[in-house]
Amino acid sequence: MDLDLTYPAVSDLRRKARARIPHFAFEYLDSGTGRELQVARNRDALDAVMFLPDILPGKVAPDLSVRFMGRDYARPFGIAPLGMSGLMWPGAERMLARHAAEARIPYGMSTVATRLPEEIGPMAGDMGWFQLYCPADTGIRQDILRRVRAAGFETLVLTVDVPDDSRRERQRRAKLTLPPKITPRVVWEVLTHPEWSLRTLAIGSPRLRLPESYLDSSKAMSSLAHAGHVIRGTPDWEMLDTLRREWDGPLIVKGVMCPNAAKRLVAAGVDAIWVSNHGGRQFEPGPAAITELPKVREAVGPDVPLVFDSGVSSGMDVLRALALGADFVMLGRAWHYAVGALGDKGPAHLHHILSDDMVLNMAQMGAHRLDDVPGRLVAPRLQSPV
Ligand SMILES: Cc1cc2nc3c(=O)[nH]c(=O)nc-3n(C[C@H](O)[C@H](O)[C@H](O)COP(=O)(O)O)c2cc1C
Repeated sequence: MDLDLTYPAVSDLRRKARARIPHFAFEYLDSGTGRELQVARNRDALDAVMFLPDILPGKVAPDLSVRFMGRDYARPFGIAPLGMSGLMWPGAERMLARHAAEARIPYGMSTVATRLPEEIGPMAGDMGWFQLYCPADTGIRQDILRRVRAAGFETLVLTVDVPDDSRRERQRRAKLTLPPKITPRVVWEVLTHPEWSLRTLAIGSPRLRLPESYLDSSKAMSSLAHAGHVIRGTPDWEMLDTLRREWDGPLIVKGVMCPNAAKRLVAAGVDAIWVSNHGGRQFEPGPAAITELPKVREAVGPDVPLVFDSGVSSGMDVLRALALGADFVMLGRAWHYAVGALGDKGPAHLHHILSDDMVLNMAQMGAHRLDDVPGRLVAPRLQSPV
């Protein structure tokens, strides 16, 4: 099968993934919070970023590799951390970590992944970034830091845009629980998605293994809420200072949209800022992340490394974010649509889609190098309909 003809875009992968993943897991992956207006806002704001092509550029064959925070990456895009990846497709963490190592792009492993850092770290090689939901308990926090460092993760990502749960109504309607409660509906979903079910059987039921390793073993298997409670503290600025002292490698703070907060983070010794609204999953009335990106860039100046995510679904979107001030662009759902649709062939195909779309669009706009892309941007004031 020619994947490029059958699944030319992320939307094709999403459609296929939806058919192969049980409803309760797909809804967890795909949904936003509330009426999902911020998900739509992310999309609309990316679509509104336009470029004016330069003509007669000759042959355009751009080099897409970048140096970011002292490391060489083959592309300026990577895999954002997703909790419970292995629920959406059994073995997803392994597939994505291996792809990252092979393709030389970063893999963000979540605190609430279904596998342990000791297993996934070596697979990601030097491409692993570990995402931390900061536990309040000092002993647990320091032990996690020690374990992830020993597992080979050198870059730490502290997520700060989940101060509490978000209602995520679609997720609730789909009755997602972990471990899944055996209801007639769940049985039906399992029976009608045999490949997902057989693979889950082979690899073991998805569990939050890292949080679970700190639960009192005399107690019965945790519920999702219990494991989440153990692992997720409510970090404040003081906690950030403590973490900065405890982690001597690169520290990125994820989930920042406020320019003043970004400046304060830099002053506190944070190495990079990750502009994100969690893909529209946390706070519906917030702005599109792409709209805030240039404001954060302006606030922190040209030298602070900026990562961007939220709504990116093509190589063109990657270029849009780079043009508006990002140094690196991450995608969350798209990689999981890819593994849900195509299993271990998914990541390489998505990598191809994104890369080809970047190169071909750079040719359209006459950009020989990634650095040429911002110069093709249509000035924002010319973009707004007057
Ligand atoms: C199903 C799902 C689970 C997520 N879990 C985490 C997580 O555990 N930690 C985290 O920092 N971000 C998490 N995120 C947010 C992603 O890292 C990323 O910010 C977001 O997916 C970007 O938007 P996109 O999906 O439109 O690319 C999650 C996102 C999704 C869709």
